[in-house]
Amino acid sequence: MKRILVTGGAGFIGSNYIRHVLAAVADVSVVNFDALTYAGNLENLAGVDTDPRYQFVRGDIADKAALEALGPVDEIVHFAAESHVDRSIEDAGAFLRTNVTGTQTLLDFARRRSLGRFVHVSTDEVYGTLGPEDPAFSEETCIAPNSPYAASKAASDLLVRAAHHTHGMPVLTTRCSNNYGPFQFPEKLIPLMIANAMEGKALPVYGDGMNVRDWIHVEDHCRAVDLVRQKGRIGEVYNVGGRSERANITVVERILELTGRGRELIRYVKDRPGHDRRYAINDAKIRSELGFTTLHSFEAGLAATVQWYMTERAWWERVRSGAYRGYYERMYGARLGE
Ligand code: NAD
Ligand code: TYD
Repeated sequence: MKRILVTGGAGFIGSNYIRHVLAAVADVSVVNFDALTYAGNLENLAGVDTDPRYQFVRGDIADKAALEALGPVDEIVHFAAESHVDRSIEDAGAFLRTNVTGTQTLLDFARRRSLGRFVHVSTDEVYGTLGPEDPAFSEETCIAPNSPYAASKAASDLLVRAAHHTHGMPVLTTRCSNNYGPFQFPEKLIPLMIANAMEGKALPVYGDGMNVRDWIHVEDHCRAVDLVRQKGRIGEVYNVGGRSERANITVVERILELTGRGRELIRYVKDRPGHDRRYAINDAKIRSELGFTTLHSFEAGLAATVQWYMTERAWWERVRSGAYRGYYERMYGARLGE
């Protein structure tokens, strides 16, 4: 049985990945290593956390001693990061510490232990921004990050690349477009708009609302990450996309329809500084080399996601109130020190 160290497994994508891999692959076990920042929520793993193949360890990827204290592991899937662009504009410090120093600390740990595959989960945002007619980002597109978040992820990508070239480490990098789906922290566009619409609050649309993102359901992203873990070519970068480019205002209007609310809730607000205009992904490589396909269309996936936030209203209400922080204490008898 392979033991996978999943960093950031209490976050949005990491928790979906743990659910996916434990259900889809019989002969793996998982160590979820997560610092439980504001974005880490162990409630995301309720149900799977009783699986004997699952273990949680609270720790920081920038903490060498905490990593050294881990028992045996075979492979790493690295999700842990500071992930929100607006927070990086406010203060980039935590982004440098976790995304850059943390990734290097994790690479050093993997090298000392001569571990197997190291899958680095990155983002299309490292490529920068596109005009309306530009071709989509391919793996050969130059890195040109525009936000402190994207710059910190680009730095981590380059450190992962260097670990392969210098030390021959068995690394793989994925660069995915915008995810949506269950358990996404309600600070990102889709869950924020759903929760606000459900509460009858204003929906803040940045700028003219015409910025374009390529949306992919988180379960499709998780399947892509595990495909790369199992079959990807060492040292390679794989773009992952949903082939669903939408302007933000189109997404917001659809959410209003799905929640039964009117356009009067829309508020155009001051634009995000340095706001990337458009992301689009050329994902031909993962599709042709590894046979990847998405299973969720954006329309059906968004409707199912709105339904999930309606059914699981208690989940995001506990996030918004801060009550979700108590779960760790109840489950593991410790206090979140902060
Ligand atoms: P998230 O913010 O929901 O979760 C991040 C997790 O990492 C949290 O559980 C947090 O507690 C943990 N963490 C943060 N700092 C840590 C540290 N120093 N040590 C250990 N754990 C730490 O993020 P997400 O949206 O799930 O994104 C996961 C990864 O996927 C990130 O690397 C992100 O860059 C990448 N990504 C995200 C998207 C997206 O649309 N959300 C798209 C492409 C790539
Ligand atoms: P976000 O979910 O923060 O992801 P990213 O910036 O990493 O793509 O934002 C998605 C898009 O939605 C982006 O163009 C910014 C915009 N946006 C708003 O218009 N209003 C909001 O309140 C938020 C959070 C985002």
